[in-house]
Amino acid sequence: MKTAITELFNIEHPIIQGGMHYVGFAELAGAVSNAGGLGIITGLTQRTPELLAKEIARCHDLTDKPFGVNLTFLPSFSAPPYPEYIAAIREGGIKIVETAGRSPEQYMPALKAAGIKVIHKCTSVRHSLKAEQIGCDAVSVDGFECGGHPGEDDMPNMILLPRAAEELKIPFVASGGMADARSLVAALAMGAAGMNMGTRFIATKEAPVHDNVKKALVAASELDTRLVMRAIRNTERVLKNAGVDRLLEIERDKGAKLKIEDIHDEVAGVYPKVMIDGDMDAGAWSCGMVVGLIHDIPTVKELIDRIMADAERLIRSRLMGLLAAESRASLEVA
Ligand SMILES: Cc1cc2nc3c(=O)[nH]c(=O)nc-3n(C[C@H](O)[C@H](O)[C@H](O)COP(=O)(O)O)c2cc1C
Repeated sequence: MKTAITELFNIEHPIIQGGMHYVGFAELAGAVSNAGGLGIITGLTQRTPELLAKEIARCHDLTDKPFGVNLTFLPSFSAPPYPEYIAAIREGGIKIVETAGRSPEQYMPALKAAGIKVIHKCTSVRHSLKAEQIGCDAVSVDGFECGGHPGEDDMPNMILLPRAAEELKIPFVASGGMADARSLVAALAMGAAGMNMGTRFIATKEAPVHDNVKKALVAASELDTRLVMRAIRNTERVLKNAGVDRLLEIERDKGAKLKIEDIHDEVAGVYPKVMIDGDMDAGAWSCGMVVGLIHDIPTVKELIDRIMADAERLIRSRLMGLLAAESRASLEVA
């Protein structure tokens, strides 16, 4: 399948694996790129720019295909040295960066000078337009369903994607709630040039996370995510667990007076406990509503091949078939 996104990033299939803290290591990014999608290493999971340089080198050993690096600008307990991370990305020969969180405006000159294509992930039409205006090459439009930070507008993709299509000139992919061929075909119908998946890629053989995480995803339903940190305007969609129940209780107690320090134990340092140790009740970790559509743990290649084959069948048989039935009916009427 050829779309503006496959052309822009020189990939075979219009499927991107979004950056994911403690999941987006070389193993997963390399597997996604080898399967014809765009794999993305999560920059800030690497604690220093030197470690990121090593991770990039490891991914180059795993694939000859294009892969990218995610740079997330979110409120954190201590600000990372972004210019040094960008230097590691540039020197690692990376040509695609996924930015997220705040606007990447301040870093665009450095990224563009290095010939890097930037896809900015954001949750509203206004932020997408801003990304276009500051020179981003594409946008990942992240709906309210998404795992991670859906923003504060609560706009689901059925509205957000067609609105983005009405306004944007640069290509965009649909992000949030994407799991299979139905997601891809629907996203294309709404004007997207591909899709970005997070949660779905965690439940794959190559995702370098504890088996408990994959099993929890298969076991969970679409009713099992919760929104946390709304009171401090850092809303995150996470998988419900005992740590999240504690967090929600603190949030209920503190109300609008909630401060990040109040929930430090439930949100800080949780990812290694979950993803490496498999402690599923450690606290808040991102997970999308799409978890209700995850029923198996395939290899990345099986997942991507299945999506592309089913998408072709969906378009050729179901959609074209509906049109054919329609034209038969109109002939019979005539
Ligand atoms: C476990 C997990 C960790 C994530 N970490 C990041 C991150 O560090 N930076 C980022 O930009 N997005 C992050 N995301 C968001 C994903 O890149 C992607 O936008 C999102 O998962 C899409 O929604 P979906 O989960 O419904 O597919 C994370 C998502 C998950 C599930």
